[in-house]
Amino acid sequence: MAAGLAVCAAAALLDGCRGQRTQAPQRLQVGVACYNQSDTFISELTDSFREQLGGEEYKELAPTVTLKDAAGLQRTQDDQVKELIDEGCNVLCVNLVDRTDPSEIIELARESGVPIIFFNREPVNEDMMQWSGLYYVGADAEQSGVMQGELAADAIKADSRIDRNKDGKIQYVVLEGEAGHQDAILRTEKVADTLKKEGVELEKLGSGVANWNRAQAENRMTQMIGQYQNQIELVLANNDAMALGAIDAYEKLNITKATFPIFLGIDGTDEGLKAVEDSKMAGTVYNDKEGQAAAMAELAAALASGEGMDEIAFENERCIYLPYAKITKENVDAFR
Ligand code: BGC
Ligand code: CA
Repeated sequence: MAAGLAVCAAAALLDGCRGQRTQAPQRLQVGVACYNQSDTFISELTDSFREQLGGEEYKELAPTVTLKDAAGLQRTQDDQVKELIDEGCNVLCVNLVDRTDPSEIIELARESGVPIIFFNREPVNEDMMQWSGLYYVGADAEQSGVMQGELAADAIKADSRIDRNKDGKIQYVVLEGEAGHQDAILRTEKVADTLKKEGVELEKLGSGVANWNRAQAENRMTQMIGQYQNQIELVLANNDAMALGAIDAYEKLNITKATFPIFLGIDGTDEGLKAVEDSKMAGTVYNDKEGQAAAMAELAAALASGEGMDEIAFENERCIYLPYAKITKENVDAFR
């Protein structure tokens, strides 16, 4: 029965009856499929999503959220999506394990008429075009790289001691997120471009892939410290977890603070904000998890109820991108 209603609501919606309620609003049953719940950013984002759906404005829809963790396996996620549909979810929120491989999930959802809000790990356009019941909520990756570059340039210009060997160049390393992730690719590219545009002379010593993960970043960083000794003046990490892992490496090696490089992250997770406040990180870029969670909640409610779709500002018809923001010690309080 519930599944039948879900199909009808979704069908009515997709037929273009947007904003017109054809029946009493039904309950909102959201199935959330995460690529890996041990990812700090993702767990903070899904916490915020749950919390916001529990708010007064959605009360009428009596929302429930069922969360499944694929622990890094696309096959597991495909099975979990099937389970979520079988359990009667009428909206799916999917954080793909492999963003290039959503076909199976799209097929399952389309067959049962359950719309999907992809989030954080963006499918390619070709896949988004497979069905009109597919949406995306995320952020503009390029902007985060540019902002990180601006933050680094500001710090370098404000403090001549950062160029420790006084050669007029900044020796740096990059800690990269997962290979193939839109954010890792664009952040890595844009941060260096922006620093150059800002007139900072750079010398890249090395880079390491640490898959967004603090422990892996600590390992990579320990290796790079072994290789480049005290030459590293700047560490650019694709996210806060990896910037913190890099700091862990320096701290565990008992290196004197005076020869630490500066560290920049992206996300503004709780621990990232704390590190900026404590001056361990020179800055970070806010990846607006609350805004993304709010957009997902609003869209999920609109999809289930058939109301409010017109009020949502989509880009490319079915995508929502939240803006990033720069965070330094000066404004960190505003993000707590
Ligand atoms: C975040 C990372 C996170 C990744 C997961 C990125 O947008 O910045 O912290 O690990 O998404 O897909
Ligand atoms: Ca230098």
